Amino acid sequence: MNLKELYLKRQSTREFSDRTVTDEVLESVCRLATLAPSAINAQPWRLYAVAGQKAKQFTPLVQTNGANGWADGTNAYIVIESLPPHALTRGERRVSNEEFIPNDVGILTAYITLAAEDAGLGSCIIGLRDESGIAEFLGLPEGTKFPLVVALGYPAEGYPVREKRRRDFDKVYKLIK
Ligand SMILES: Cc1cc2nc3c(=O)[nH]c(=O)nc-3n(C[C@H](O)[C@H](O)[C@H](O)COP(=O)(O)O)c2cc1C
Repeated sequence: MNLKELYLKRQSTREFSDRTVTDEVLESVCRLATLAPSAINAQPWRLYAVAGQKAKQFTPLVQTNGANGWADGTNAYIVIESLPPHALTRGERRVSNEEFIPNDVGILTAYITLAAEDAGLGSCIIGLRDESGIAEFLGLPEGTKFPLVVALGYPAEGYPVREKRRRDFDKVYKLIK
């Protein structure tokens, strides 16, 4: 699939088949995603691929307050940890990535979803999550930041590619020259 086709086909998939997402596929998606650009190339993230029975145990952490009931069928998750700010000195200047970390995580996440699509996987970005519970699940200190989780799996048989619902392009785009 070329990139244009990937953009058109990627959608939030909320129904998965039982087909296992292999360790190799998970690693390959994550390897590609970590080619994402980031401010001062700080790459302020770590990725945890949660698969098999562990994925089933993880699911309640994205279902707080009754949200994301569909996630019961998720085959694997990629959990994104965002790392603390990083600074470096360029000549006289001190440059920090602090204000850009959310941007970097967003770009990384987009890369994950497109790499997943290219591997034939469906994905759904999940913002509603129990960060403390995720830290405990992964054996990391309370307060560790997990801004986003991506649910993955092969789409259920017959899962439709929906028409995109987006704001009118002429309301979000203006050419200035
Ligand atoms: C930052 C972010 C958080 C999201 N959180 C959730 C979520 O918790 N549960 C869910 O089902 N979808 C979630 N989504 C998916 C959006 O609802 C979806 O991307 C949007 O409606 C556009 O639909 P599409 O992805 O099918 O094109 C999230 C998307 C983003 C970018």
